Amino acid sequence: MNLPDYVEARKRTKQKLAIEHYSNDVKEIGKGKTYHIKTYGCQMNEHDSENIKAMLEELGFTNNDDYLTSDLVLLNTCSIRENAHNKAFGMLGRLKHLKEKNPNLIVGLCGCMAQEEGVVKEILEKYKWVNFVFGTHNLHRLPYILKEAVEKNTSEIEVFSKEGNIVEGIPVKRDSKYKAFVNIIYGCDKFCTYCIVPFTRGGQRSRLKEDIIKEVEGLVKDGYMEVTLLGQNVNAYGKDLDLGYGMEELLEEVSKTNIPRIRFVTSHPWDFTDKMIEVISKYKNIMPAIHLPVQSGSNRILKLMGRRYTKEDYLTLFNKMKERIPNVSISTDIIVGFPGETEEDFLETLDLVNKCKFDNAFTFIYSKRENTAAARLQDDTSEEEKEERLYRLNEVVNKYFLENNQKLVGKVVPVLVEGVSDKKNELYGYTDTNKLINFMGAESYIGKIVNVKITSAKTWSLDGELDEG
Ligand code: 5AD
Ligand code: SF4
Repeated sequence: MNLPDYVEARKRTKQKLAIEHYSNDVKEIGKGKTYHIKTYGCQMNEHDSENIKAMLEELGFTNNDDYLTSDLVLLNTCSIRENAHNKAFGMLGRLKHLKEKNPNLIVGLCGCMAQEEGVVKEILEKYKWVNFVFGTHNLHRLPYILKEAVEKNTSEIEVFSKEGNIVEGIPVKRDSKYKAFVNIIYGCDKFCTYCIVPFTRGGQRSRLKEDIIKEVEGLVKDGYMEVTLLGQNVNAYGKDLDLGYGMEELLEEVSKTNIPRIRFVTSHPWDFTDKMIEVISKYKNIMPAIHLPVQSGSNRILKLMGRRYTKEDYLTLFNKMKERIPNVSISTDIIVGFPGETEEDFLETLDLVNKCKFDNAFTFIYSKRENTAAARLQDDTSEEEKEERLYRLNEVVNKYFLENNQKLVGKVVPVLVEGVSDKKNELYGYTDTNKLINFMGAESYIGKIVNVKITSAKTWSLDGELDEG
């Protein structure tokens, strides 16, 4: 049994990591059995689930969309806020009943929650029937962990507190035939005081440029139209490698693979260089859509959050992007109710939103996370007040989403068509600036980039018609 340990998880060493290659000699333990994965949280988790699916299928398991009739149910969990926790524990509650009826059911838990000391302790005490738990640093060991759990019928807990080597060659079963996630950097060394990610995902580790390019070239060959380069903080790409290249060079080289669309998430304002802005504006296949979390507009709160920039720094960067990248859309993340946030601090955030008029914003109430620095700060603001701030913030951000969308009416934009929308029998896709759009058209357009004229705007989506002219 390997349990998570926060003292270890916090450590950052300068030690050079080696590259390992995935290998698996466990075979057929899933033959005739089905699996179901529930994925919570961010794109990084979604992509990990794509790896997990491929590893399970290599073992003979087949996918089952219904967890109630599956032989194996795996929860790929998220730690970012309390409600993500609650969802996973709620699901474990339901699985307990299922397991009482069907003792052969195999239940596993992985992802960020598996890296939390408190969570694993709770599983050991109250959810002893969970068959296996593994963390974010040993995804590639799934076949072996599962084999032990199945054959010995024990509870296998294998969580490494510290990141290991970078493992290349883990198989992947992608959810889309047109859009793909590609990891470029794992972990985070920023230690923003509210954030649990540096503990659950470990230290910053970049993949080698050659491995990334090889993966993207493979995607081009397979007909993929879009790649999203993933990292907790993509702008820090390469800083740990000492090889003399960073995100700027990586973006240029990915651009030269001629994949039609490149996106990247998430960017920390701290590492966003002028050269990055130049590269984004220079290459046509790098999409003019940047996710640039600000978190707060108050300098006092930004300092307490450990964000390393001021409201003014953020605005300078924001304006530079708007000036230099034609047609750019900028989205953000905002937290309200950070410990000690006053009404004045909150008004600073509203002021920043009024200046930036974001194209999209994900807004959250601060959630206290185990072992983070902010968890030790005094928090006097009531839950009602925090909810009221979130409500007021959402009113303002939503107003700008609609206003920005309305400005697009009449314009013709390129859209990557992804499928048929559930509701209206229309096609749907995303514009270059990452806006959802619905329009009538033949299914043969799915997987292609077409021009669509925007005919009307809503807060969270656009309507349009094909522009074949
Ligand atoms: N509470 C609320 N929101 C958080 N985020 C990260 N940690 C917390 C927390 N403890 C938000 C940040 C981040 C996004 C992914 O989630 O806004 O950018
Ligand atoms: Fe968390 Fe800050 Fe790292 Fe983002 S940059 S993952 S908010 S510590």
